[in-house]
Amino acid sequence: MNKLLTTLSALAVASVTVLAHAQAPAAPTAAAAAPAAASSPKSLDAKIAMCIGCHGIKGYQASFPEVYRVPMISGQSAKYIVAALTAYKQGDRKHPTMRGIADSLSEQDMNDIAAHYAGDGLAQGSTLAEKANKEPSAPVAALLQKAACVSCHGANFAKPIDPTYPKIAGQHKDYLFVALKAYKTENNANMGRSNGVMGAIAKQFSNNELKDLAGYVSSLDGDLKTVPEKKFR
Ligand code: HEC
Ligand code: HEC
Repeated sequence: MNKLLTTLSALAVASVTVLAHAQAPAAPTAAAAAPAAASSPKSLDAKIAMCIGCHGIKGYQASFPEVYRVPMISGQSAKYIVAALTAYKQGDRKHPTMRGIADSLSEQDMNDIAAHYAGDGLAQGSTLAEKANKEPSAPVAALLQKAACVSCHGANFAKPIDPTYPKIAGQHKDYLFVALKAYKTENNANMGRSNGVMGAIAKQFSNNELKDLAGYVSSLDGDLKTVPEKKFR
């Protein structure tokens, strides 16, 4: 019986909602294994199953508040992943989909998922040079200087001074631009990020300047990747 339940919950959480539904009459307990049941112990695979539909597909695009590629999270630092998920859960980051997802995660779930993604695709650890592999143009250099971006994100933009700060080198350009604009957005229930540090920084720049910054940072070599994962392992 136990084995049957395990199999059923594995199927149900693998986001095959239709299948889980079809089996519900035969096994009433299957409902308890739905992804929303954050309190029940789940395997790592089951937790990741909630993410791969977006973060595990190369080039997958979100459409809110505009069309952009979803951020690469494989190779990101674990502490930052937890910090970001916590910010969605607490509403400091307002993106509705990610808020809903983060809300269903316990602290333990976040730690487990973050550890997985931090090591995912980075088997050898980071092999990046200390300095950025490309010089910025003179105008972009002036923008970087103005807000001392490297003083927090690191000289190669992938070695932040604090593990709760993000690696941004090589991240998708369109996502970086959306994220930077989000720090400028205030008083909107569905959009924006209320981080005080980045808010004060982003507000110093026009959107065109933020776009140029995003373009440069995105062009650099980085640790971030999208690692496609099988739904059933
Ligand atoms: C429906 C698509 C979708 C799913 C499913 C999804 N995400 Fe996201 N995720 C996004 C989008 C879009 C963003 C960017 C939101 C924003 O602009 O703040 C994002 C942002 C993030 C970020 C912040 C990245 C950064 O660089 O700041 C993390 C971390 C994250 N997601 C983790 C997860 C995890 C873990 C799961 C599974 C438990 C998951 N996501 C499921 C679409 C998704
Ligand atoms: C004083 C430290 C500090 C400085 C200076 C700084 N940042 Fe940040 N940055 C942070 C922190 C902390 C976060 C995470 C904020 C959050 O939790 O949303 C962040 C987040 C970001 C993000 C969002 C990344 C993601 O994955 O969502 C981008 C993009 C970014 N910074 C770019 C820049 C750029 C470009 C500059 C210079 C113009 C800059 N930052 C200067 C500390 C800093």
